Amino acid sequence: MVRGMSVLDTFRLDGKRALVTGGAKGLGRVIAGALAEAGADVAVVSRTASESERAALEIAAQTGRRTCYSVADVTKSDEVSAMIEQVQGDLGPIDILVNNAGINTRGLTQDLSEEDFDAVVAVNLKAPFLCSRLLGPQMCERGWGRVINLGSILSVVAIAGRAPYCSAKAGVANLTRVLALEWAQQGVTVNAICPGPFGTDMNKPLLEDPEKYRSFVSKIPMGRWGELNEIAGSAVFLASDAASFVTGSMLYVDGGWTAQ
Ligand SMILES: NC(=O)c1ccc[n+]([C@@H]2O[C@H](COP(=O)([O-])OP(=O)(O)OC[C@H]3O[C@@H](n4cnc5c(N)ncnc54)[C@H](OP(=O)(O)O)[C@@H]3O)[C@@H](O)[C@H]2O)c1
Repeated sequence: MVRGMSVLDTFRLDGKRALVTGGAKGLGRVIAGALAEAGADVAVVSRTASESERAALEIAAQTGRRTCYSVADVTKSDEVSAMIEQVQGDLGPIDILVNNAGINTRGLTQDLSEEDFDAVVAVNLKAPFLCSRLLGPQMCERGWGRVINLGSILSVVAIAGRAPYCSAKAGVANLTRVLALEWAQQGVTVNAICPGPFGTDMNKPLLEDPEKYRSFVSKIPMGRWGELNEIAGSAVFLASDAASFVTGSMLYVDGGWTAQ
């Protein structure tokens, strides 16, 4: 806890500026809204202008915070550089980076192509590297910053038919630890949120198949999928001064899946 502040005050993000990749929908949208509700100005980034613009406008209307959006493919370093320049021009220096953009391609290894593997690793693992290596050093120079990566329960457990995604998310866990070590003395923490199953577009193939849906529920000790808003508190916590001594850690939001 920060000395002289009440514990609830340490969760506030007033005066901070956050960038959420993939913040236009799903878990990223909830995280972007939650950071704004806690007081941060927020930039929403995805490849789909209409969705990002809508999210930015909705969040501004709901919270009164300044928001902006940018269109970028975060797997491409030139687009990442241009996006960060635009967003920092709009909002000012980014203090909180949420590497949330992600995709999943499912299938047995022998049925997957090289392109399938490369695409999943590029969005889930390479993009956090590209965004962090630009913004992290700037945060270090200012002496305060937060990088929050979206890992998964599949950062630490495996499911057959998920080779690209499990490989990428396991990589995210150790990228998180490496960056935490590199920036530990400069006021910049790096942590990962590791969700269990949530009902977003990414999981449509599971949600639309009652047998697959039930098979997932049977693996979750709490006996249900996560509600989207149940990701919000983890992001606000890790972004805030309440988590000032937390770095290099994985925060599981998974109904107990990884406790087994
Ligand atoms: N849902 C779950 O159960 C679950 C569980 C564990 C971990 N996670 C992780 O949580 C994160 C969010 O997942 P979600 O379920 O909320 O996904 P989602 O609903 O499918 O949303 C993904 C977001 O990422 C954006 N995106 C994808 N590729 C991108 C790229 N190359 N450049 C920029 N933006 C890109 C998408 O927009 P565009 O396609 O328009 O660019 C979209 O806004 C992911 O990292 C995922 O792996 C999710």
